[in-house]
Amino acid sequence: MRYSAKVMEHFQNTKNYGKIDNANGIGKVGNTKCGDVMWIYLKIEDEIISDAKFETFGCVAAIATSSMAVDMIKGIKISEALELSNKAVTEALDGLPKEKHHCSVLAEEGIQAAIKDYYSKTTK
Ligand code: FES
Repeated sequence: MRYSAKVMEHFQNTKNYGKIDNANGIGKVGNTKCGDVMWIYLKIEDEIISDAKFETFGCVAAIATSSMAVDMIKGIKISEALELSNKAVTEALDGLPKEKHHCSVLAEEGIQAAIKDYYSKTTK
């Protein structure tokens, strides 16, 4: 299996790894088949994602897609982040091996779960 240079860059020099202490949106998702787990932490201010971080316990593809996805949603509106697809993240990484495409779904789901958590906390 071959990973693109961008995948390896995001895996080896992972960006935005860790927690945000005052995150107001937290999403946790997992892949039941492989057992990989991902947390997405968001700091949202005025409908804008002012900060985003992640923790992923998983494969190379899961870590690289989380790193790239979190990079892509920083500074954008929640409505735009909700539209970020795993396809767009995979393309930004110059592709993933076919058998690893399912791993990229975690980042999309994690971001959506974190935004859902934000709304559940703020719209009461
Ligand atoms: Fe589990 Fe990639 S093998 S997310």
